[in-house]
Amino acid sequence: MKLVFAGLASVLFVIGNAAAASLDMASAEAMMKKDGCAACHAVDKIIIGPSYQEVAAKYKGDKDAPAKLVKKVKEGGSGVWGQVPMPPNVTTPDADVKALVGWILTLKK
Ligand code: HEC
Repeated sequence: MKLVFAGLASVLFVIGNAAAASLDMASAEAMMKKDGCAACHAVDKIIIGPSYQEVAAKYKGDKDAPAKLVKKVKEGGSGVWGQVPMPPNVTTPDADVKALVGWILTLKK
């Protein structure tokens, strides 16, 4: 019994850790849809906004990128990728914005 419990606890620990560290592809795409990002963004193609792979490539090695992009997603803006503005995403929870930006920056072409 003790062994079963220990096993279960370590499985839960692994799951919890994975969620905190980074989103996997499926949960990230679900979050993009839930938060409305998917209307304008896809991982590998331009919709209205840049593809997330292009975003990751542009900010590769930029240690200020996570903070900068979290602010940009929340406040919106234009001029980095073209004249089309991203509207402010004010209703998206902070935790979602941070998780999505973190995930976007890990994408590779
Ligand atoms: C109505 C369309 C629209 C929605 C909804 C939208 N975006 Fe964007 N996004 C854009 C456009 C357009 C740009 C390019 C802005 C620019 O050129 O500065 C952009 C740019 C970005 C960038 C790069 C910013 C930069 O300065 O390089 C990130 C990261 C991003 N979006 C993430 C998100 C996330 C996460 C969400 C959902 C919470 C989201 N976007 C929702 C249209 C949208």
